[in-house]
This record gives sequence, C-alpha cells and structure tokens, in this order.
Amino acid sequence: MTAKIPGPNARKIISRMRRYAYDSTFMYPLVIANGHDCTIEDLDGNRFLDFTSNIGACPLGYSHPDVLEVLAEYSTSGTHKIAGQDFYSKEHAEFVVELASILPRRFKVFLINSGAEAVENAIKIAYRRMGPLPGVSCHGAFHGRTLGALTFTSSKPVHKYNFPELPVIRIKFCTSDSDAEVDAVEPLLKENKVAFILTETVQGEGGYNVASKKFIGALRRSATKYGVPLILDEVQSGVGHTGRWWAFEHYGVEPDIMSAAKALQVGATAYRRELEPRDRSALSSTWGGGSRIDMAVGARTIRVIRRDRLLDNATRMGGILRKGLREFVGKKGVSDVRGLGLMIGLEFETRQRREKKIAELFRAGLLTLGAGQKALRIIPPLVITREEVEQGLEILSSVLSRN
Ligand SMILES: Cc1ncc(COP(=O)(O)O)c(C=O)c1O
Repeated sequence: MTAKIPGPNARKIISRMRRYAYDSTFMYPLVIANGHDCTIEDLDGNRFLDFTSNIGACPLGYSHPDVLEVLAEYSTSGTHKIAGQDFYSKEHAEFVVELASILPRRFKVFLINSGAEAVENAIKIAYRRMGPLPGVSCHGAFHGRTLGALTFTSSKPVHKYNFPELPVIRIKFCTSDSDAEVDAVEPLLKENKVAFILTETVQGEGGYNVASKKFIGALRRSATKYGVPLILDEVQSGVGHTGRWWAFEHYGVEPDIMSAAKALQVGATAYRRELEPRDRSALSSTWGGGSRIDMAVGARTIRVIRRDRLLDNATRMGGILRKGLREFVGKKGVSDVRGLGLMIGLEFETRQRREKKIAELFRAGLLTLGAGQKALRIIPPLVITREEVEQGLEILSSVLSRN
C-alpha cells in the first residue's frame, strides 16, 4: 500500500475525471489498473481484496485463464463490435444456446446492452401482450435508470426526482412470511387490470433484502390466476451469486419473463416463447448482441461456473462468510446480517456508521459497497477461496471493532 491512498497516479486520474466527467456513483478513490483472482490493483500498485466483483459483474474475478484465452482469440479481430440485432454472428448463437441451458425450459432470449435495458425490454414484452396498463412493482426495488425501468425503481429519491413515470402500483416487498401484506397482491389483481408484476427476489440496491417464500409464492399464484406476466429481475442476483443460477430457484417458482446482465457480461431479456411479440422488429438495438467479445466471454463464463462447480463454492463460501459476520451482530453498530450464497448484506444502525466503515475497509485493503439506506453489501467473485474469505473476515473484524 502507498503511504497515502489514493497515490499520486490515482489522484491525477480522479482530478481529470472530476473536471471532465459527470461525478456519478463513485464510492471511493479507487482507480482500477489490473486484477488477479479476487484482488484488484490500483494505478499506484495498491492491492485490494475485492468483495464487490464490480457489483456482481466479474463472477470469475480478474485475469481468469479462461477469460484471457477468449480475449486472446479476439486480439486480432477487427469485427469485434457489430450491429448485433441486424447481422448474425456465431458468438450470438453460441451465447444464447449456452444461456438457454440454464434458463427455464423453452425460454427464448433477446440480447441488449445493460441491465436497465434488459428490464425495459421485459416490460415492453409484457405491455405488447397486455396493453399500456399499470405495472406492479415493489417499494425499495431497483430495476435500472432508463425512464421505463426507472418508474419501477424506488430505492432512493435521488434516482427519481423530476423524472416522469409510467402508470405504476407499488406494493410492499415482504421479507417475512408473517407479514400482514404477504398475500396483498391477490385482492389487488382482482380489483385492477395490470400489465405485469415486476420484482427482484433478493433486492440488490434496496439493501440485499431477501423476499419471503410466501410472498414470492403469492405473486406467482396470483399472476397465473389473473393471466398477468410475472417478471423477475435477476440482473444482480442471477448467474450464481446466490448459489443457484437464478435467485428464483430458491423459491421453487419460474418467471414468465426475466432480465439478466452483469455476471452474464451481456444484457438479456428471457421470456416464455408464447409471450414473444408477433411482429419481428418490435425489439432491437444496434449494440444488442453486438459485442462479440462480451458474448464469447459470457458463454465461457457459464461453462466455467458449471465446470468448476462455482455455484457450490458460492453456497459454501457464502455460508462461512455469513457465519463469520454473525459474530459482529449486536456489536459496534451492526444490527443484522442476511443474504443468500455470496450475496450478503450487513445492516448498520445508522447510515453514517455504514459510510465510515466502507471508507475504513477501503483503506485497510477490502472493497465493499453500500446498499439500501444502512446496509453494507458483500458480493465477492464466485471463485473466492476459503483463504480469501478468512482474510476478508480478518479485515472486517479489525475495522468493525474500532469505534
Ligand atoms: C436488479 C437490478 N436491475 C437492473 C439494474 C440495472 O442494471 P444496469 O446498471 O446494467 O443498467 C441493476 C443494477 O444494479 C440491478 O441491480
């Protein structure tokens, strides 16, 4: 570690960024230079153990030999980026075949650029079928920031101020089977015509809140009963972080439409084939399915997760992490730990305490993120080892025990 973080090289980049770029959601002064396994190195040679996996987007960590092999294959390709919904490529075909192998049976896929657009196209598929009726979504949800998806996001006011909304009915996201509103969607659908129900099963940005089984079961049952598509947003939870390919597998349900991105390397909307828009060009985008490298890395990522049993690793390492973190609950401002697999939230009593600890962890060499109002989010790469888990717990223990 340099004596002062950020070091001189990082400081130079950050000052350029502040001068010329929008000051977005940067958490701390980390300028990524490279990485190996679960370690990220900054421009000044400082090394950080990564408990963020770039918000779930780097499930194989960094410099994974399989990923490097794919990148090497494309290092001489001058057609790595194409108009992927206008021209075919073998990577597109191979990627959707690989993706289909982990989706519910008979689902089809539309590729797009980002998580928000994966949600955007999920709701478009539902609107196409149902008409421009209100959509149902949950308080505390995060579905992205494009204007359609943003309507159904409600995790922080800063995302929404002065932006117009589509018609929406918001319901409580129930985390306990004994919640009085756990079955509230049934009377709601009886009284209102709606275009879709959209939810995460584990709220990501909203604070790593795990939905109650009864709640998701009630959404599924009522959606089927009233013929309303159930859209499950797996952008953050999908492709392994909960210890299953999809978080909804923990609930014994399947969606009608779903969104994925991040760990998949490519944004994707997947749907029951009966819901496919009948007219061919209802959905498209220049770059949707257009990065041949991303699709090749995405297909390889799925194969590596399967080959190296990384879902089991996520379950095991997540269990060790949660057990270790439970030791901190009730001490020094930590009030709760929750999550599934390697998607773990550590709740603080105050937001200030959470912010202070994220900054201190950064300086001690551990990358974590905030989620919701007061939670610290832990979502390490799926390749994390027991030694790295223990190293992370040691740093957490030393930082959390300070005042
Ligand atoms: C559940 C969920 N949906 C949608 C999105 C939006 O994805 P993107 O940032 O790629 O647009 C996110 C991003 O964090 C997410 O967590």
